[in-house]
Formats: sequence, C-alpha cells, structure tokens
Amino acid sequence: MGGLRKFKKLDTKTNAGEKTKKVSSPGQIFLFGEHAVVYGQPALATAINIRTDAEIESTENNEVEIKSEGIGGVTGEASEKNGEWSIEKISGDSEKLQFVIRAIELTFNYLNTGSGFELRIDSELIPGSGLGSSSAVTTATVAAVSSILGEKLDKEEITHLAYKTEETVQGAASRTGVNVATYGGFLKIKGEETIPLSNIPELKVLIGYTGKYGNTGELVRNVRELRGSKPDLINPIIKAIGDTTEAGTKALREKNLEKVGALMNANQNLLEGLRVSSPELRNLIKAARSSNALGAKLTGAGGGGCMIALSPNNDIEKIAKAIEEEGGEPIKAKVGVEGLRY
Ligand code: MEV
Repeated sequence: MGGLRKFKKLDTKTNAGEKTKKVSSPGQIFLFGEHAVVYGQPALATAINIRTDAEIESTENNEVEIKSEGIGGVTGEASEKNGEWSIEKISGDSEKLQFVIRAIELTFNYLNTGSGFELRIDSELIPGSGLGSSSAVTTATVAAVSSILGEKLDKEEITHLAYKTEETVQGAASRTGVNVATYGGFLKIKGEETIPLSNIPELKVLIGYTGKYGNTGELVRNVRELRGSKPDLINPIIKAIGDTTEAGTKALREKNLEKVGALMNANQNLLEGLRVSSPELRNLIKAARSSNALGAKLTGAGGGGCMIALSPNNDIEKIAKAIEEEGGEPIKAKVGVEGLRY
C-alpha cells in the first residue's frame, strides 16, 4: 500500500460526478498497540460490524448541508478564493461535525473543485466510544464527496485525505483508524506501512462500553506531554507495547488464543502506565477477566469509551452478563469485516 502515488490536482471546474451516492465505513477495535502506534510502534486492529452510513445528493447550487442523525447539522457554502476551496458562512454544530467539514474541504482542494450537496450521515458508532467513529465518518465523507465531484478516488487516495483530516483535527494521529475504515479485515500498522493479515482464527470478541466519552485528541496530547516530561519512563513503555503487538500477532498466526489473551492483559498494564485507562474501564476489564475471558484491555484512546474481552468458545454470554452487572453495555461484534463500501 505504501505512500500516495501522486498528489494530483484535477484541472476541472465542472461537477461531472454522480448525482447521488451511498457509502458505508466500519468501526474498529485495537487488539494491540493504540497510543504507541502514534510513535511508530506497530499496532494490530480489526474492522467491526458496527458502521457509519453516508448518503450524498448533489445540488445545482453551492449550498452545503450536512445532517448527522443524533449529532446535529451544519449549513454553509462551497467557496473558492485564490485557488483555495473551503466551506464559508458555516452555521450549526460545526464543532461536533469538524471531521466532516475538514474532510470535505480537503477533498475539494485535492480535486480542485467544489459544489453544493446534501450529506446525510447515520452512524451506529457513538463519538468518543473508542470504536473509531471519527475515522469511519471521515473516510465515508471523502468517498461520498469525491463521487459526486466526478472522481472515484482509489482507496489509497481516500486514506490519504482521511488521514490528513484526522491529523489536522486531532493534532496527531496514526494511520490505523483510516486504514481499517477503508480496507477492513485485520491490519497491522507500523508508521506508513499497512500489512493485511489473513488466516486469522475465528475470534469471539465482546466489547464493553463504559458510557463515558473519551476525548482522543486530549488523550493523545496527554501521552505526548507525559513522554516529554518523563522520557526515561514512557519511551520503554511505548517500545514494550510495540513488542506486545509483535508477540500478539505471532500468537494469532499460531492460533494460540490463550497467549493472545495473556498479551492483551499485558498490553492493558502498559496502557495503565501511559495513564489512559479509567476506573470504569478497569471495572469492566476485571469483570470480564473474572468471567473466564482469555484477556481484556481498553480499545482506542481510552479515558472512557470501550474495553474488549477475548472470549473462549462458550463463555461470551457469561462475560456479557458480568459487564452488564458492572454497569457497562456489552456489545457482541463480528471482527475482520469488510471496509469501505462505495
Ligand atoms: C485512537 O483511536 C487510537 C490512538 O492510537 C490514536 C491514533 O492511532 O490515531 C490513541
């Protein structure tokens, strides 16, 4: 997959794309490696069957209308000044929809054209739940907007624009989220390298939602500050998370689920060292482990959001019950599912 072949600028000012388009991107969980992946260590993540759908309809004018079910809406105007495209005269929930707005602007500028449209987003992924809602919505937005502007971008171009969006809005980001949202399956990410993994054994994974919002940008900044103030403590933890990802990937390939679970537990301890866990996450993780989970850890940025538990064959209901009794919401997810549909 590597880097982007070229950063092309189309010489078109006309909107010759499709009139309407439906797209959909999956959410994701990290089996290993969140946070450390921001510093070039490997991470292993997989797409889940909880998705974000987007539908776009082009209009004859330059009015942009974004409606996100349960989140809010924004209106504005597609505008070009000195060769730079943006959405002007924005009103509405621009803060809540900042990933969408930025993704649209970057797509306009990449294609060197813009137009009006109505974009309707319907996501099963709760923002701040740690299941990759921003990557899913960003990827879906780039795919949808480019389709009506006359250019079906390839997956590499979509991940490039979606990654630039996340980096701009979040401050710092790895390529994990947007790659999983685009390509789906199981992916090992290391820096700019994306390695799809095949022959992964069937995994029974239970997600436990704490019901608390985790602010990814803030958590990533906190780790950066901690690393800046205590490099001798934090750098070895980050490196150890990378080693855990490598060992976990090997254990998965060998279909040794007990070892995968033990390494997930080790990864959680290291994430505790980065101070991104929370009392609610700890309670759900403890409840899952006491109910025979092979391993349990937080997933995504932490600070709230979700944990995941790897279940042996017959114990998924037992783990779900334990998570519920501890005040969490158990979610049974299928892993390794398809990426962007467009
Ligand atoms: C957040 O979903 C995962 C982090 O590793 C940040 C990133 O990879 O962009 C915390």
